[in-house]
Amino acid sequence: MKVDVLLGLQWGDEGKGKIVDVMAPRYDVVARFQGGPNAGHTLEFDGIKHVLHQIPSGIFRPGTRNVIGNGVVLDPVVFKSEIEKLEKYNLDVRSNLFISKKATLIIPTHRLLDQAQEKAKGENKIGSTLKGIGPSYQDKIGRQGLRVGDVLSSSFPEKLRKLVDHHARILKEHDFPFSWVEHEAGFMDAVSFLKQFSLIDSEYFLNSEIKKGSTILAEGAQGSLLDIDFGSYPFVTSSNTVTAGACTGLGVAPRHIGEVFGIFKAYSTRVGSGPFPTELLDTDGEAMRKEGNEYGSTTGRPRRCGWIDLPSLKYSIMINGVTQLLMMKADVLSIFPSIKVCTRYRLADGTETDQLPYELIHENITPVYDELKGWNCSLKGLNEAQLPPALNAYVEFLERELDVPISLISTGPDRSETIHRFRREA
Ligand code: GDP
Ligand code: IMO
Ligand code: MG
Repeated sequence: MKVDVLLGLQWGDEGKGKIVDVMAPRYDVVARFQGGPNAGHTLEFDGIKHVLHQIPSGIFRPGTRNVIGNGVVLDPVVFKSEIEKLEKYNLDVRSNLFISKKATLIIPTHRLLDQAQEKAKGENKIGSTLKGIGPSYQDKIGRQGLRVGDVLSSSFPEKLRKLVDHHARILKEHDFPFSWVEHEAGFMDAVSFLKQFSLIDSEYFLNSEIKKGSTILAEGAQGSLLDIDFGSYPFVTSSNTVTAGACTGLGVAPRHIGEVFGIFKAYSTRVGSGPFPTELLDTDGEAMRKEGNEYGSTTGRPRRCGWIDLPSLKYSIMINGVTQLLMMKADVLSIFPSIKVCTRYRLADGTETDQLPYELIHENITPVYDELKGWNCSLKGLNEAQLPPALNAYVEFLERELDVPISLISTGPDRSETIHRFRREA
């Protein structure tokens, strides 16, 4: 069978966690392929809200096995606390979760380095989640990182010491106070905890599942506009969040990729610094934040809000090879009598384009909007046939502009508030 991929097309927080959980019963395996504890994937069912950071969002479905892939950066301390929270729900986490030996380890000094580097950037800070993502990927690319499989080796303490000493030197240059003693016991305890799980060669595991005919869903973190290569650099995360990242982050060859589910909010949000052409700094933006409860799942920071941005969505669809679109949070737009859609950008010289300029930041971009009628009614409990005509018109407008079918509409945070649309061929 092919490996389907589900990933965010905007700046993260599109609702990936909810939809992976909704889709997971159809899949034998759910596999996270990049990112780490910077992610916050929210799932809601039976009146309980769960936020996952490193654990794949298939974990609540008993028949689904979950894999943390080699492309992930894993913090053992965060891992331990996530698992402890999940164990309250009587899940079979220990037999349903597999961790790649090749995943990179986040150690406590990576978090400190993140803080030091952000502080040094001053006004130009990225707005990082401060979970150690940038520094741990730097060590991976710099060929000096530690990997999950290293914890099984007797030389682990020595390798760890070497990396901590290296970090201590950098932290000293930054004048950043640091004492390893404060972190060591907690970290080593979390490492021992991690060792109780199945640490595997996940590329062999996944390829043998493909051969057996198992169904696999690759779960992305962050969003395409935060991709290290294609996002609004330097205001991005440090991994490839796009479909290609699923290949390198899981060891799955491109020819095994099947459907690419591109998930987006019916509007836009962004948390952290960086360009955001359709951002609303007015009462509409505030109303969107309030109605959508737009506060970061990992950091609690208020998310910046704005209208949907089609040039950037078209870009994400192109880079990812999206085959189906999933539109989230349609209910949030119910508060607006009319809804704006940015269809193109007007550049400083007066020309209009639906392509992303090289520099979104310095380029003086004015979004050009089409205005559509709002539906202005609650979507609670509605099925596909009961959807208001203005919402159907919004969806059909987006399908025409984006040239990809929208096969799912989400109308609330709960598992059940999900409308599967008839899949038309593009
Ligand atoms: P992820 O990082 O892509 O998994 O998304 P987050 O969990 O960070 O943010 C999405 C937020 O929107 C969460 O609080 C979800 O519970 C919530 N959510 C998901 N789908 C919907 C929806 O259709 N309507 C509303 N109102 N909330 C939703
Ligand atoms: P999920 O998976 C939204 C943002 C941060 C910051 C930038 C870099 O929940 O969609 P990092 O900590 O990676 O160095 O931060 O990326 N960011 C996210 N924004 N959702 C996320 O994940 C994010 N992960 C990182 O706010 O702007
Ligand atoms: Mg999130």
